Amino acid sequence: MEINFDKETGLFTLSNRKISYIMQVVKNNYLAHIYFGKKIDDFNPYCSYYEVEHEGAPQPEEFPEGRRFSLECLPQEMPAYGCGDFKYPALQVRLDNGTSALDLRYERHEIYAGKKALSNLPSAYVNEQDAKTLVITLSEVSCKFKVEVSYTIIEDEALIIRSAKIINTSDDIIKLHQLSSMCLDFADGSFDRVHMYGSHANERNLDRVPLNHGIDVVSSARGATSHQHNNFLALCSKDANEDHGEIFASTLIWSGNFEAVTELSCYGYTRMVMGINSFDFEWQLAPQESFTAPEAVIVYADDGFNGMSKTFHHFVKKHIVRGVWKDKVRPVLANSWEAAYFDFNQDSIVRFAKDAVNLGVELIVLDDGWFGHRDDDKTSLGDWDIINKKKLPHGLKGLSDEIHNLGAKFGLWIEPEMISFDSELFKKHPDWALSVPLHKRSTGRDQYVLDLSRKEIRDHIVEVILKVLSSAPIDYVKWDMNRNLTEIGSLAFPASQQGEIVTRYVLGLYDIVNRITKAFPNILFESCSGGGRRFDMGMLCYMPQVWTSDNTDAVARQRIQYGTSYLYPPVTMGAHVSAVPNHQLNRITSMLTRFTCAMSGNFGYEMDLGKLSLAEQEEVKFQISIYKKYRETLQKGDFIRLISPFDGEKNETSWEFVSTDKSEVVLMYFRNLVKNGMPLTRIRFKGLKEDTYYQCVVHESPSVLAEKHDMSGQIFSSEYLQRRGLIMDKSDCDFSAHLYVLREVKK
Ligand code: DGJ
Repeated sequence: MEINFDKETGLFTLSNRKISYIMQVVKNNYLAHIYFGKKIDDFNPYCSYYEVEHEGAPQPEEFPEGRRFSLECLPQEMPAYGCGDFKYPALQVRLDNGTSALDLRYERHEIYAGKKALSNLPSAYVNEQDAKTLVITLSEVSCKFKVEVSYTIIEDEALIIRSAKIINTSDDIIKLHQLSSMCLDFADGSFDRVHMYGSHANERNLDRVPLNHGIDVVSSARGATSHQHNNFLALCSKDANEDHGEIFASTLIWSGNFEAVTELSCYGYTRMVMGINSFDFEWQLAPQESFTAPEAVIVYADDGFNGMSKTFHHFVKKHIVRGVWKDKVRPVLANSWEAAYFDFNQDSIVRFAKDAVNLGVELIVLDDGWFGHRDDDKTSLGDWDIINKKKLPHGLKGLSDEIHNLGAKFGLWIEPEMISFDSELFKKHPDWALSVPLHKRSTGRDQYVLDLSRKEIRDHIVEVILKVLSSAPIDYVKWDMNRNLTEIGSLAFPASQQGEIVTRYVLGLYDIVNRITKAFPNILFESCSGGGRRFDMGMLCYMPQVWTSDNTDAVARQRIQYGTSYLYPPVTMGAHVSAVPNHQLNRITSMLTRFTCAMSGNFGYEMDLGKLSLAEQEEVKFQISIYKKYRETLQKGDFIRLISPFDGEKNETSWEFVSTDKSEVVLMYFRNLVKNGMPLTRIRFKGLKEDTYYQCVVHESPSVLAEKHDMSGQIFSSEYLQRRGLIMDKSDCDFSAHLYVLREVKK
């Protein structure tokens, strides 16, 4: 990988074996975006950007004679409003004189090996020898501030990591209203736009629409990434599908309000901007103060959405997830939530644990309800140091010891960012919740949100949670957060800084989780937020897995996990088998269907296994043994999507996992409803080793079919599997699943 600067032409070239990202310092030091895409070895710097005369497009004063040069049509790296570019900007600042017209010019640059961490934000990490970083300093012509834009290129990764920092170099206070993390300008506009939308228990549906003229915004103003829109956006060529076509995609290493904006200008140029949501954002910068925007990860793929996801997945596994759990195999867990909700005690949890451990479960998680007098979701949040002795007479230690004696690990649920009105903490500190003068606080799930912008509140949370985690052997923590932010104001900040609180909340959260996860490096943390409200790369820097959704129905989950997999690898997606009828949708599905879907994520149970019949328990035991046998491939292998639940009649889903050495492949196929006259479905495997053979070692299919079409033992060439493929059984039951494991064999 290389970063080169050619003084003569002003050309910056960042390239590795897969991509090139090219910029150029053009007339009077504007920084132009020239190219991002598949690697170009020999780039001709002349005519690299377009000069077009558009009637009415303003010219900078320096070029009154040249009407063909205008910021209106110059592709830029850090575009701003007010001096000729009327498109959606990447930067908005109001200077002390009240004006906001901005004109940024290249000042200098620096190139270094590796990549630095951001000081108060989560960020990607690399080995120094595997990456290079370019930092370009742009100076605003008023000399009031500078912006440093940094670009990291990593060996063999088809992506750029970009972030930006603004520094007030004046003697006055300036107000930042927007500092986007990334901006991509294109000369053309023939794209579709893809993003993920949803709601609670219905996260990350895929949405694909043609890019239309004007500005389109995907955003969150809820204080978290949100169930509604994940912080992801892709522009793709019209012909792009899972395996073909060009994609430009971006996400943020950030867990708060965000915006992903596209603009197709009326001249046909496309701009894509992504960063902290500029809606309601303000940050006051005193002299010499700076503000850093979170990192954006910008991926290029020329082999469709599977290619894009492969790059994101690899990046998350290698450059986001860290600590002891990065490469460690994740345990099979059983969580008490859907098994017992708030209705448990030490004996019932130990019984629940015994039954689960007997079947092969390795980690028992006690969910909500173990503290204060929390017998429903209306009370006690904040009282983490008051164990509910009625339920747990021997405290957390007594319970944890018993579970460890069974040979399992012990995990615990917490929701440290919240405070209940009915809590000891609220009695002591009614002023600790976010609030706005002269307004009542809105509740959400009957709770308020602690003001994480305040250091004394953060210190309290860290202290009390460290106390809990030290009070007993705790191996796993589920960190929940169950509401959106409203009345976002802080008593500790002046009126001029109230616009910062929503951002300071997230920075405060990072401070807390950083301190707690560092203090307990061996604990496996799972981030959760009413399911998948905060599924993002920011939280993944601290917590290597996320509870994907509160919806555990295996059919709904196919869509949720399929959509989530656009960006996040399955090992990060908590996925549990739950009881039937399903608690969210009342649907009844077979144990095989629930298992096959849950094993496609970070596998566990959300049900009381002791309540199953003996025959069902045997089935669970067998399934857990299968999972353990192949979990290296499921957790570490490549994930490839085969049939989309968002396409066609939305009746089928299929995906596969291929081990890193390609010697093993696990394929899942789901069909929802059976119909008369339904055509057969052919599934062609992808990503296998060429010129070899694979033997089917596991074929689980609906029990009504098991004897008819058992493929176990059959040997297929990789050519056969990838070209001809397998014909899926025309299942005789609704909501069916097929599971295949194939291993490479010598023939
Ligand atoms: C929301 C989570 O998503 C659930 O899994 C569960 O932990 C509840 N909160 C507990 O209150």
